[in-house]
Amino acid sequence: MSTGAILAVAVVAVVVLAGLFLLTTARRSDRNAATGLLARETMKRDRQARKARRIEAEAPVFPAAATGKDVERAVRSASIATPAPKLPVPWTPMDEEQLGVTRRQFFNRSITVMMIAGISGFAASLIAFLWPSLKGGFGSRVTVGKIDDILAQITAANGPVYVAEARTYLQPYPASALPKAKKVYAGAVLDGMNAGVVALYQKCVHLGCRVPWCSTSQWFECPCHGSQYNRVGEKKGGPAPRGLDRFAVIIGAGGIVTVDSSAVAVGPPIGTNTTGQEADGPHCV
Ligand code: FES
Repeated sequence: MSTGAILAVAVVAVVVLAGLFLLTTARRSDRNAATGLLARETMKRDRQARKARRIEAEAPVFPAAATGKDVERAVRSASIATPAPKLPVPWTPMDEEQLGVTRRQFFNRSITVMMIAGISGFAASLIAFLWPSLKGGFGSRVTVGKIDDILAQITAANGPVYVAEARTYLQPYPASALPKAKKVYAGAVLDGMNAGVVALYQKCVHLGCRVPWCSTSQWFECPCHGSQYNRVGEKKGGPAPRGLDRFAVIIGAGGIVTVDSSAVAVGPPIGTNTTGQEADGPHCV
């Protein structure tokens, strides 16, 4: 089961449990409001009063001027009172007035319904936020355009084409570096390089800042802690543990470039330098 599905099931379970809790709480308070609930102090007082009455009823009665013998005789002849068995109180259904919705019940139920609606809305938006996008945007396949147009754009700007939807920089990959690239890269990332383009994930592999392009050095340079990567995202300096992560590039019919941002390919290890590109000018950080 995918992470998204597990999250969805967990959120739905939490919502159902919260709803049950609120419903049972509301029902209990409704029942208490209808039948009445005595305070603990009152019940204790009632118990003590009943006990005092019973002791008084069971006590032997002495004549006004009783002698010791009279008392002994009276005590001996006093029968031990056997309490009459208590009959169960017959159940009588509540009348319509008690069963009707009081103002308190109405507010209790309204609050319960509103809370359930609020939690459900929150859960729905959470699921929508976490659900992987299958139709476009980051986490899906993003079609960028024709490869010739992209390479022309890069040449004209002397810098990468930024694809915000895929959070990626598209950079040209020199054909002369392919023999070295084949020893480091594989799969659809290498396919893209063979076609002349590489898609670099914008996120710094050190602590996740977005890494901007430095037009003077022609490197990517992270402003957070100074990690540096060359034009094709291979690590050149700073605390980054590897080169920039990247995405598979699919070249479709008519040379249409699609970046598959649903899976991140881990960047090349430190020391990889397939293009041999050094800084062209001053650094930005
Ligand atoms: S986050 Fe980029 S160098 Fe630390």
